[in-house]
Amino acid sequence: MTRIFSGIKPTGHMTLGNYLGAVRQWAAVDQYRGEALFSVVDLHALTVEHDPARVLRLSREIAALLLAVGLDPAVCTVFVQSQVDEHARLSYVLECTASDGEMRRMIQYREKSAQAQASGDGVRLSLLTYPVLMAADILAYGADEVPVGDDQTQHVELTRDLAVRFNQRYGETFVVPRATKPVVAARVMDLQEPTSKMGKTTAGTGGVVFVLDEPGVVRKKVMRAVTDSGSGGVEYDREKRPGVANLLDLLAACAGGEPEELAGAYASYGALKKDVAEAVVEMLRPVRERYAELAADAGHVEGVLREGAERARAMARPTVDAAYRAIGLLPAV
Ligand code: TYM
Repeated sequence: MTRIFSGIKPTGHMTLGNYLGAVRQWAAVDQYRGEALFSVVDLHALTVEHDPARVLRLSREIAALLLAVGLDPAVCTVFVQSQVDEHARLSYVLECTASDGEMRRMIQYREKSAQAQASGDGVRLSLLTYPVLMAADILAYGADEVPVGDDQTQHVELTRDLAVRFNQRYGETFVVPRATKPVVAARVMDLQEPTSKMGKTTAGTGGVVFVLDEPGVVRKKVMRAVTDSGSGGVEYDREKRPGVANLLDLLAACAGGEPEELAGAYASYGALKKDVAEAVVEMLRPVRERYAELAADAGHVEGVLREGAERARAMARPTVDAAYRAIGLLPAV
């Protein structure tokens, strides 16, 4: 059976980008396609300046949201990374397989370390080794597929390289995974800066729609989206009109249709924005409602996570033990 693993880090509230690029697909399709695990990867949230209380709050919020979106604990495994020791155990062994140079080449490391330096914060060593921990997340479960948005491609490629290298040096131990992408919305752009990805930690959040935003807030953000001053109607052109293209992509992702064709139906940006806003609000409405119910029953979510961690540990343990033996460590006692 196909093994599927993916994760989301609690560095901020869940965004529309997370939802469309990954989480929606996990719930609608991936959980039913094989043996699937989805994790709130909280260890990854400690790689940049963080507030412990906020990370804890966000871990719980995102876990409850995963259930609200439709991940079904009877069908798949939902858990929090730090509650399963195998991730950190395997990460160390993989650090002994990876090189300093390949870590420094990672695009996200280069971007985030530059940001950390510019803001006067030191660069945490864990920011450099982050992709190795991500590889451990995936390899521990023998995942065949990793459903992610566009921005994670390089990290999954690195995971493949590490798996192949380890297998060659120490014997067949890991499954070599591959990334899978959503058909639409693999890269949702910021509404205020449509040439940048919509991200959880973007400084000004006017361009970021959060899954739990009130409908009025969603409408305001969409209506204020940056477009351009182009004339001659609405046109789908990612290069020349990235803001409009992003809105058309969003409409297609939320309500269906092809962005190029949808463009023809609009005479003005205002009308397009109005429809995008309504489509996003309607898509998120059931998620917000279900989240409100789950938030009122924290015990239920805790129980799901506890059981999820137990299941995940049982699945990861044999592979991590095998990797320890293969690399020359004594067997687990
Ligand atoms: P994270 O938490 O940044 O994002 C979670 C998922 O959402 C996707 N995503 C987007 N998709 C489209 N448009 C966007 N604007 C957008 N923003 C985010 C991401 O591609 C991702 O699929 N390193 C990972 C977390 C991770 C992980 C893993 C993922 C840790 N270990 C193992 C898969 C497997 C990350 O930072 O995701």
